[in-house]
Amino acid sequence: MKKLIGKVAIVTGAAGGIGEATARLFLQEGAKVVATDLQYDKLNGWVSELAKEGLPIVACEHNTALQESWVAVVNTALTAYGAVHILVNNAGIYPAGATLINTTLQQWEHVMAVNLTGPFLGAQLCVQQMVAAGGGAIVNISSIAGMVGGNGPAYSASKGGLRLLTKDMAVELAPHGIRVNSIHPGGVLTPMTEGLVNMPSADEILKNMCPMQRIGKPEEIAAGALYLASDASSYVTGTELVIDGGMITR
Ligand SMILES: NC(=O)c1ccc[n+]([C@@H]2O[C@H](COP(=O)([O-])OP(=O)(O)OC[C@H]3O[C@@H](n4cnc5c(N)ncnc54)[C@H](O)[C@@H]3O)[C@@H](O)[C@H]2O)c1
Repeated sequence: MKKLIGKVAIVTGAAGGIGEATARLFLQEGAKVVATDLQYDKLNGWVSELAKEGLPIVACEHNTALQESWVAVVNTALTAYGAVHILVNNAGIYPAGATLINTTLQQWEHVMAVNLTGPFLGAQLCVQQMVAAGGGAIVNISSIAGMVGGNGPAYSASKGGLRLLTKDMAVELAPHGIRVNSIHPGGVLTPMTEGLVNMPSADEILKNMCPMQRIGKPEEIAAGALYLASDASSYVTGTELVIDGGMITR
């Protein structure tokens, strides 16, 4: 039995990596999907192939940091599929090599705008549609960087902020039948991490850091998003699902 039949899902940052894997899995599970990204051509490259086959998926150009861009995405969902039941706030940026000393105010504000303000803006708009639909689920893709330090100030603070934004929304929205949860991936092989993974020292670092001694696959994060978006997690809200091969448990 498919797990998302009758649901309309918005998945941000879906041009590749975790967002694409999540959008594809949700589609397989019967959802109608609005896939969004700043990189429209890359996104539409794979979405248009599936849409041509008659599958219910639409690509939408989106800058999650801008309110008006969210309005356009929600309008696309309503025009195409008539409702919004699920929001996966996945779009994010990681400024590699950032330290307290070398992070400029502009970089700090940009990371916050995409990683934290974006999910806030999206939730504000989508929740209105979820209330109208009688309930919904929001899945925020945070990071283990939102739980432990060492990943640069802006990224850590933005992902830690998203972790607590999740809990605050969970409390406020529970009476409306809307569940809000966060996922905290460890290292996952995606366009975001390709450069880091190809460093000569990467294998050794990973073996020392990760009990499972391997990097994660985007599909392994998507599986968590499916659980939190579907009725399989009907009594779960405000929780943190860590998917990291054991990295922060040691
Ligand atoms: N890959 C990892 O190891 C890892 C670990 C922990 C958390 N995460 C988080 O997972 C999420 C997905 O990352 P990924 O690893 O798949 O990387 P990715 O770079 O493949 O995906 C992120 C996507 O977000 C899009 N994006 C960036 N800014 C945007 C904006 N303003 N508006 C709309 N789209 C925007 C990018 O174009 C990109 O397609 C991110 O939030 C990331 O922080 C990733």
